[in-house]
Amino acid sequence: MPGTPPDGVPVPPDGRLEPGALGALGGSSLGIYVHVPFCATRCGYCDFNTYTAAELGGGGARDRYAGLAVEEIRLARAVLGAAAPAVSTVFFGGGTPTVLPAADLAAILGAIGAEFGLAADAEVSTEANPESVDRRSLARLREAGFTRISLGMQSAAEHVLTVLDRSHTPGRPEQCVAWAREAGFAHVSLDLIYGTPGETAKDWEWSVRSAVDAGPDHISAYALIVEEGTRLAARIRRGELDPPDDDEMADRYLAADDLLTAAGLGWYEISNWAAGPGSACRHNLLYWTGGNWWGVGPGAHSHVGGTRWWNVRHPAAYSARITAGVSPGLAREVLSQAERATERIMLEARLAAGVPLTALGPAGRRAAEVAAADGLADAGALGAGRVVLTRPGRLLADAVVRELTG
Ligand SMILES: C[S@@+](CC[C@H](N)C(=O)[O-])C[C@H]1O[C@@H](n2cnc3c(N)ncnc32)[C@H](O)[C@@H]1O
Ligand code: SF4
Repeated sequence: MPGTPPDGVPVPPDGRLEPGALGALGGSSLGIYVHVPFCATRCGYCDFNTYTAAELGGGGARDRYAGLAVEEIRLARAVLGAAAPAVSTVFFGGGTPTVLPAADLAAILGAIGAEFGLAADAEVSTEANPESVDRRSLARLREAGFTRISLGMQSAAEHVLTVLDRSHTPGRPEQCVAWAREAGFAHVSLDLIYGTPGETAKDWEWSVRSAVDAGPDHISAYALIVEEGTRLAARIRRGELDPPDDDEMADRYLAADDLLTAAGLGWYEISNWAAGPGSACRHNLLYWTGGNWWGVGPGAHSHVGGTRWWNVRHPAAYSARITAGVSPGLAREVLSQAERATERIMLEARLAAGVPLTALGPAGRRAAEVAAADGLADAGALGAGRVVLTRPGRLLADAVVRELTG
């Protein structure tokens, strides 16, 4: 996950949680996130917690990674104890999980099943760079129990991929969707990015159409974020590339929404569209609805019953902690009721299901009325007790949500 974690108090060496946090586990869903902090090359726009073999000084860290992750899963089991339900969603993200051999990902998934049990209908996703999978590895992942794959496509236009420093060739992501379907994946998603310097409205339309034509049942479309410290940010600062333009970004978003809706993919979160409720990413919905999850791996974040913690970021530091039998947790914080209420509004207001009016304070309810009068929140939904953003509201989501939390 990008960004600097907030301050917090140290996590005890055995990773123990306050008893109050564990009380929230019974009767609710549990997710497991596995962060795989490796990539073949670093894309110029990305500041995720990920490392190339050269950055790590050799490939050794990758060889040992599955064993370390399995150790943390055992720690998670010991900390959560008997109260933990069977796991309902697993999400391997990164980085590029699929730079590890399919057997390593299968071993980590096997440990989750052995320690916690997997619910009968568990969703098991992995992210993948299209260059890091092929027909055989996709078949192996499916056999190992993966049910969903999310491929980074970003664009169909070669000059856009070049500006993004993407290593894959146009056409490869679509080929991977076909291989994933052949392997038996019912759920396949493609990630797209809009607003790359030099991308035209036609390039974007073609990218969305190409993604839809490949036949995924889920598409994520993200506005390009120029992250400090990336090669992209440096090139923009030097004047080699133009910064993304807000009006163009809004046009791209609306074009995507039109094309995806016409293709039968409906929005369920501001940046995510699915072919139906069964195609939405259940693991991400768990994050967005305040669920409980344990994040395994360097820099991974976790949340259980209002306690949030995050692991040490560097793979070497992570390895040292796990090898010494010490929790990789760097720090944690216990959210107050007020903080939890604010977070709930900030996350749920971005969903098509919206946030119930009862979750808002008096100022937030007044802001919801104003948003509906301004056409930014759906008046019908408001009458039924929920705040649901309209299309113009989605374009101004950050500002509307800020008012709702007031
Ligand atoms: C972990 S990557 C997906 C898997 C694989 N690493 C890949 O890139 O193909 C998650 C997604 O985050 C998005 N992303 C990363 N950095 C971004 C940025 N600066 N702005 C917008 N989207 C970004 C990309 O769409 C990317 O596919
Ligand atoms: S492959 Fe994915 S995670 Fe790795 S640098 Fe590129 S966008 Fe980031």
